[in-house]
Amino acid sequence: MQKIQFSATASSTLNHFDSLIVAVDADGNLISNDLTDKIQIQNLISQLHQSGDFTGKTGSCLMLSMPKDVDVQRLFLVGLGDTDKLSDKAYLGALQNAAKQVLASGCDQLLNGLAEVAPKGRNSDWSARQNALIFQKSFYQYTHPSRGTFSNETPKLNAMSFTVNAAQESLSLAQATALGMELTQDLANMPPNYCTPSYLAQTAQELANTYGFKAHILEREQMQEMGMGSFMAVAQGSATPPKMICIEYNGGGDEAPIALVGKGVTFDTGGISLKPGESMDEMKYDMGGAATVLGVFKALGELKPKINVVAVIPSTENMPGGKAAKPGDVVTSLSGQTIEILNTDAEGRLILCDALTYAQQTYKPSKVIDMATLTGACIIALGNHVSGILGNDQSLVDQIRAAGEETYDRLWQLPLGEEWDEQLKSNFADMANIGGRAGGTITAAQFLARFTKEVPWAHLDIAGTAWVSGKDKGASGRPVPAMIEFLNQQAKS
Ligand code: BES
Ligand code: MN
Ligand code: ZN
Repeated sequence: MQKIQFSATASSTLNHFDSLIVAVDADGNLISNDLTDKIQIQNLISQLHQSGDFTGKTGSCLMLSMPKDVDVQRLFLVGLGDTDKLSDKAYLGALQNAAKQVLASGCDQLLNGLAEVAPKGRNSDWSARQNALIFQKSFYQYTHPSRGTFSNETPKLNAMSFTVNAAQESLSLAQATALGMELTQDLANMPPNYCTPSYLAQTAQELANTYGFKAHILEREQMQEMGMGSFMAVAQGSATPPKMICIEYNGGGDEAPIALVGKGVTFDTGGISLKPGESMDEMKYDMGGAATVLGVFKALGELKPKINVVAVIPSTENMPGGKAAKPGDVVTSLSGQTIEILNTDAEGRLILCDALTYAQQTYKPSKVIDMATLTGACIIALGNHVSGILGNDQSLVDQIRAAGEETYDRLWQLPLGEEWDEQLKSNFADMANIGGRAGGTITAAQFLARFTKEVPWAHLDIAGTAWVSGKDKGASGRPVPAMIEFLNQQAKS
């Protein structure tokens, strides 16, 4: 993805730009402080407003080519309605729509006036950061060779300045976030015959080479010997070799790292507890947690914050077959706790528990955060708009949630407690891997909590947010924005 050159110092003169984009409210008022040609632009807008050709309705966008008496080749008008009542969602939706139109034009050097407006409770710096993220992110196209033929016109947009001063840090964060999301989306969108555990391992290795991270990959035999009986039980049904992918980013000296653990099931058939056929293709996204962790590492490589972060990614397919684990099998996890596998489709927790134990044993982290497309129940509980978050440390949960609010990559907390933990009782092992239909997201987290007793831990259930279904089916790149914001805050404190 080509990087847009963002400028942090405000510009008010048009002559360095071929295009200008400005906000217009519901009354047809141009929202701008001290733009040159302001009067001419307002005249144009007033005429269009009067004739009914541009109402300023939220989310509308109109391009004027060679606007009369205005010193640019193209002028984009973006309607933001009643700007006193502007919501985050409406503002961000308008930006997405505007970015699409700008990219479809011949615009090369853009002066952006949209950060002069901020939704309720936000400021112009927030708006500039969201503009930078959304414009940069809108360059994303899935272009893997498996795609076959498609129109691959790279957008011309090279440079963007704002009509307000923006913090350089915000612009760098936005750009790194967009680049991280690009990797996350690419990996998750890739067909499961291409995006295998080996491919994820290779991607991690390439990131390490590019940015100077340490990387190491554990293989099946090693993991069997080490005693990862739970992860290996899931992996034994697949002919494709499983991997435990470990990366270390060192920007914070010798302080204890934050460990990020990502579920990397590159295809989830359900195993012997086979899933129904409908929409089963979507289970290629079951490595969305792993893709998020790798995207976050790409952003870390770009940003280089003063912090230590390690990634631990258990990756495998979940397949039925002659060697596959069966309902009723009892396995011994790396922690020594035994697990009765009552449903082979609850495989995410089985691979995560060994990764969580391994991360703690190997890296002695100060905090552990896992992210996983873990339960369909999370989609039932929360829908597709917020990720679920649960954890054993309220301040860690609060900090991640705050990062999600700041970036509009939101998370909502669900409870943990003994009552739900009791649902995991097994007659034949220390615990069962399922706890019944009631509270499915909570019992899944409760299972993981048994492997994170000694460390502040948060679990992100991203089953509803990592991808979008329907006509515009595809990976969303979430929750990369929230995680980058969280890690950047940690680096500063
Ligand atoms: N990968 C799925 C969860 C999932 C389902 C994510 C739908 C996104 C959309 C996970 O491995 C799974 O199959 N979970 C089961 C758990 C159940 C067997 C306790 C589920 O949610 O049905
Ligand atoms: Mn499953
Ligand atoms: Zn799964």
